[in-house]
Amino acid sequence: MRMYDIIMRKRNGSVLSEEEIRFMIHEYVAGNIPDYQMSAMLMAIYFRGMSDEETSILTDAMAHSGEMVDLSAINGITIDKHSTGGVGDKTSLILAPIVAACGGKVAKMSGRGLGHTGGTIDKMEAIPGLQTSLPQDKFIEIVNKIGFSVIGQSGNLAPADKKLYALRDVTATVDSIPLIAASIMSKKLAAGNDCILLDVKTGSGAFMKTLEGSIELAKKMVAIGENAGKKTVALITDMDIPLGHAIGNALEIIEVVTTLHNQGPADLTKVSLELAANMLHIGGFGTPLECMTKATKAIEDGSAYLKLIEMVEAQGGDSSVIKDISRFAKAPFEKIVTAPKTGYINHMNTEQCGIASLVLGAGRETKESTIDYSAGIILKNKVGDYVKAGDELAVLYTSKEETLKEAEKILLYDTVIDETPVKQNPLIFARVDKEKVDKFI
Ligand code: URA
Repeated sequence: MRMYDIIMRKRNGSVLSEEEIRFMIHEYVAGNIPDYQMSAMLMAIYFRGMSDEETSILTDAMAHSGEMVDLSAINGITIDKHSTGGVGDKTSLILAPIVAACGGKVAKMSGRGLGHTGGTIDKMEAIPGLQTSLPQDKFIEIVNKIGFSVIGQSGNLAPADKKLYALRDVTATVDSIPLIAASIMSKKLAAGNDCILLDVKTGSGAFMKTLEGSIELAKKMVAIGENAGKKTVALITDMDIPLGHAIGNALEIIEVVTTLHNQGPADLTKVSLELAANMLHIGGFGTPLECMTKATKAIEDGSAYLKLIEMVEAQGGDSSVIKDISRFAKAPFEKIVTAPKTGYINHMNTEQCGIASLVLGAGRETKESTIDYSAGIILKNKVGDYVKAGDELAVLYTSKEETLKEAEKILLYDTVIDETPVKQNPLIFARVDKEKVDKFI
């Protein structure tokens, strides 16, 4: 079999065989197919697409390119959740303790920030001492004891995706539905959970900018998960506005804690509860209504907050910062960004909010960059709010004073304030399972 022939077949619009797809992934990971040939293949897939069957085979081949995690030592059904990436999206650290408090098991492997989007592992490392890399037996022990643990992906989880993702990033082939679906689901299948809830973000801060594209991606991923024998459901949620008020690692952990104290922003609380209730439902904990009641109670009675403390301590973190959020290190420099005119905030570019936070030091400019955990943004007003000229729009935090001006410019770029009141998007646009798509707009 020759890679040249496989590229030509895909270029001409043929459906690739299982043998061809498995050969291509195996030989690429082994270093026998050069990047220039794989780049040509990625571009052919970008334009020609892949059938559901091709995408499922590609996902399986990528998942099996490395370690397949065995979670069978966990007592109970394990329920995973994956977000396609957003700005201010700290839901994992809210919903995992909720699900654990309701009796579910969450053995979660999370990623770091990618581009303008934040990552759960970076946020967790804002908690002093917290270990995000644990041996497998310790990870399983914590899940069995507490109900949840969150660690970074092991180096050998779907190595084909690591190589392919880096190549897609530099060949303009990231935003291809079959390639995104295979990338995400290969890691989910390798992570070994029984059930998967996907949070597919849509809007200006998401990789998928349109609702139609997000639904198509969700349908593909749900089909892949179900074909692999995992109960899989997707919610399509809004990422046209950052979630909550905080963007940046320590600032987001503080917002996680206030939300678990039932004093968080309404949008973040609602999305976290919907995700948690859906996780409990697919894990067999009751009807959707019963699961929502359980999840809400876990916030109201403080049991989810106590689970967060238990996890932080079990993973070696200093829980005193969670018990007293004023103990988080403060950024030495801050700047208030004010509204340039009076009116309704009609638009904020969420991707630009993520980039402004990155410039302040909350994300990585290069692979080698170190993170400033205290850096980030608190949004004082968001899309839909009425502001007077000079009112606070946001406060910027950083350890590098020289970044404040640029971050302010980025944040205000594309922020539109005018006289027209704004019709708010629903927070949850749709729910996709193997049988149907329920739209809520
Ligand atoms: N997240 C991933 O893991 N892969 C993609 O292709 C896009 C988002």
